[in-house]
Amino acid sequence: MHTTKSSLVDQLVSSSLALQFEEVERFPIWSVVKWSRFIDRMQRSSRPVPPPFQLVQTLVDTYLPLSDGRPVLDIGCETGKNARALAKAGHQVVCLDIAPKAVECTVKNLTKDRLQDRIVEWVVSPIEKFAPSEGQYKAVVGTYAFSFIHPDLFEEVMETNILSAIAPGGYFVGGFFGTKHSWASDPDLTIVTKEKISKFFQERGFIPFLVKEETKLGETTSQGKPVFHTISVIAQAKISKDAFFGQSVWC
Ligand SMILES: C[S@@+](CC[C@H](N)C(=O)[O-])C[C@H]1O[C@@H](n2cnc3c(N)ncnc32)[C@H](O)[C@@H]1O
Repeated sequence: MHTTKSSLVDQLVSSSLALQFEEVERFPIWSVVKWSRFIDRMQRSSRPVPPPFQLVQTLVDTYLPLSDGRPVLDIGCETGKNARALAKAGHQVVCLDIAPKAVECTVKNLTKDRLQDRIVEWVVSPIEKFAPSEGQYKAVVGTYAFSFIHPDLFEEVMETNILSAIAPGGYFVGGFFGTKHSWASDPDLTIVTKEKISKFFQERGFIPFLVKEETKLGETTSQGKPVFHTISVIAQAKISKDAFFGQSVWC
């Protein structure tokens, strides 16, 4: 479901979007409800908008050109942590989340910082059902939403709904769960290794120039402190198949 700016606030405030959500295989309403509860807990916590995903901040500080007027797609916007960092730096943002509550909270939280005008569109949809135009974003960012794509769908969704939406020379920033993550045995999650995910990007015309592997105790709102083994990536789409002069930073 795409919601354009003009109709946004009224629809969000009514909170009726969840009821309009289509029940489809793999995206039953309980999944929307589960994520909406997660967002509720975040919004009610003492710090409803946590700091941005570290590599999103790196992208904003170091790589993302303001001169390119295309928006950035923020996948799994939660309560606005990545959108706020992007908007603060002057970029336009399209927020997408499976949970209507996430989009609602993101808009409300950015409004408090008078950054709401930088949200140019919001989309309530699972990423698996999102059909963007080719090359319409100068970057696509997310935290760990990509790990929640089912392994059977992962390659297709990443290629068709995410990477194809990035303009030539544009960026992907996101995190993935690794093999030592506490949730790695969940068959519904996509688990990667540093080598596998780097190769995945390279084979699709991207240069994964920053790939960072970390293991630490995570903080979750509902599942205690699992081991968070993560692989975080900044990758740049080649301008053409033959031309790329980016730098390589392996952490
Ligand atoms: C992946 S979750 C946060 C994960 C975090 N590591 C945790 O479990 O505590 C981040 C956001 O992604 C959204 N999300 C989850 N699955 C999604 C999907 N299939 N499509 C779009 N957004 C999704 C959630 O609603 C949430 O706002």
